[in-house]
Amino acid sequence: MLEVHEVRLARTTADPDDHPSPPRPEIAFVGRSNVGKSSLLNALCRNRRLARVSRSPGKTQTINYFDVGGACYFVDLPGYGYAAVPEEVRRTWGPMIEGYLERSPRLAGVVSLIDGRHDPTELDRRMVTWLAERGIPTLVALTKADSVPRGRRRARLSETAAALGLDPEQVVWFSSRTGEGRDSVFSAVNSLLQQEA
Ligand code: GTP
Ligand code: MG
Repeated sequence: MLEVHEVRLARTTADPDDHPSPPRPEIAFVGRSNVGKSSLLNALCRNRRLARVSRSPGKTQTINYFDVGGACYFVDLPGYGYAAVPEEVRRTWGPMIEGYLERSPRLAGVVSLIDGRHDPTELDRRMVTWLAERGIPTLVALTKADSVPRGRRRARLSETAAALGLDPEQVVWFSSRTGEGRDSVFSAVNSLLQQEA
């Protein structure tokens, strides 16, 4: 089991091929801007101050590698597809994210975050399909569970899985606000790392 007592920022870079050394398995967090990627990473590490979080989309603008107890890197990425992010910024982030996902030599898996309050967007669907086509093991976290009534959750999870062509077991509810789903995501991440090893 991964130890999260000692997590530190190992590298911040805009170059998708600039991995920190020594090489270690990597788990990347992808999703729309503002979906809660940095918050989820912090929740997994039980440290609210690790990755920077903001109310306004476009907070994370580079690839940020967090060294998790010397065992792996958690990779916080910029978000995609938020209309409020200027076009020129989106044009640099696309290749950054894609270049990273395409060429990372040690990518053990991806946590793809989707806003649980809404249907997956076209870009969410494209991202999940793209990862599946490349055989990259993917877990979908439906974020902001605290804002979705409990009675709606089960149906929404199966609808989302169906819309994305995934098994319902690949989709979990998550809230960084309440901590719901933290342990499920954490154990899924651990399995991805074991499969890579
Ligand atoms: P970018 O770096 O801009 O791509 O965003 P991000 O995906 O890293 O999102 P971030 O973690 O910065 O969170 C964005 C906003 O969503 C912040 O205002 C968070 O407080 C809020 N947020 C994150 N997780 C949750 C959650 O589980 N529930 C609720 N209600 N709000 C959340
Ligand atoms: Mg972020």
